[in-house]
Amino acid sequence: MIDIDNLRKKALSEIKKADTLKKIKELEKRYIGKDGKVSDIFKKIPQAGKEKRAKLGKEANKLKGELEEKLKNKRLKLEKCEKEEKVESFDPTLPGKKPDLGSLHPLTTARKELTDIFVGMGFSVIQGPDMETGWYNFDALNFPKDHPARDMQDTLFVKGEKEKVMRTHTSPVQIRHMEENDPPIKVVVPGRVYRNETTDASHEINFYQLEGLMIDKDISVSNFKSVITQFVNEYFDGDVNVRLRPSFFPFTEPSFEVDMSCSVCDGSGCSVCSQTGWLEVLGAGMVHPNVIKNSGLNPEKWQGFAFGMGMDRLVMIKYGIDDVRLFYSGELRFLEQF
Ligand code: DAH
Repeated sequence: MIDIDNLRKKALSEIKKADTLKKIKELEKRYIGKDGKVSDIFKKIPQAGKEKRAKLGKEANKLKGELEEKLKNKRLKLEKCEKEEKVESFDPTLPGKKPDLGSLHPLTTARKELTDIFVGMGFSVIQGPDMETGWYNFDALNFPKDHPARDMQDTLFVKGEKEKVMRTHTSPVQIRHMEENDPPIKVVVPGRVYRNETTDASHEINFYQLEGLMIDKDISVSNFKSVITQFVNEYFDGDVNVRLRPSFFPFTEPSFEVDMSCSVCDGSGCSVCSQTGWLEVLGAGMVHPNVIKNSGLNPEKWQGFAFGMGMDRLVMIKYGIDDVRLFYSGELRFLEQF
């Protein structure tokens, strides 16, 4: 009726054959689980004859202990094997996960590219302070006392600092450099500038300019045109035409706006150049005699040209970027493209 020996034989052989943890779990359930075969024996013992009960109970307990022990040992053995298998399945030849690397900001790259072009033409790269006096930012540059650019609307004045402003352009560095250096002068000045403006796709309260200054004895507009034509052709990698249009700046006379033929449509007209074929890239002119005089040099002896361009704008044209605010957004999806 209750064949403990047979049950033991069957269980041991099955445990021996079991080769996965899943099978061991099944066997645990089948033999020593709550409704398993060993429990069945315990349930049947009360029905056995009085003299057999004690013996059966003893044997059933012994079987239970024995099976528990064997199952436990086998389980530990299989667990160890599976762990080892996992370690062995690590493939050291698989390509690794690429760590995220930072990259230079597009304006940082542009500053280097742009100044490198001028260095190639014999210019030096210099810098000046972001916070300026009214004298350097306006007066020395021949701005009349009532010029609207001095108005609170355009200029950020520094609180508590009498007469101090955040420079609205890089032109004050022209004065600082001429004060300290005798001509011939050939410099470019990359730097951040500040305007009290409402921001939109083409205006930011700060952006970057690249200023240029060349002073010597016989400098003319044709020197300027050749330097700037060389420059745009190097930066835009191609056959770009340059034209000058008359304009006005207090610090130059004559003054011009410089256009280059649109690098997107090659001058045939597109949405980037508003169908004109031309893109405005910089302001320039022959340095006003008052500016040379205000820097401590003799305007009878020295003359030259100056120019100023928006670096953000050049980068926008080069890469087809339609919103200047992207440069300052910290937006990785934008920055990662450079
Ligand atoms: N300072 C001017 C601006 O911020 C740009 C400029 C125009 C600079 C003509 C110059 C220049 O040196 O000659 O808009």
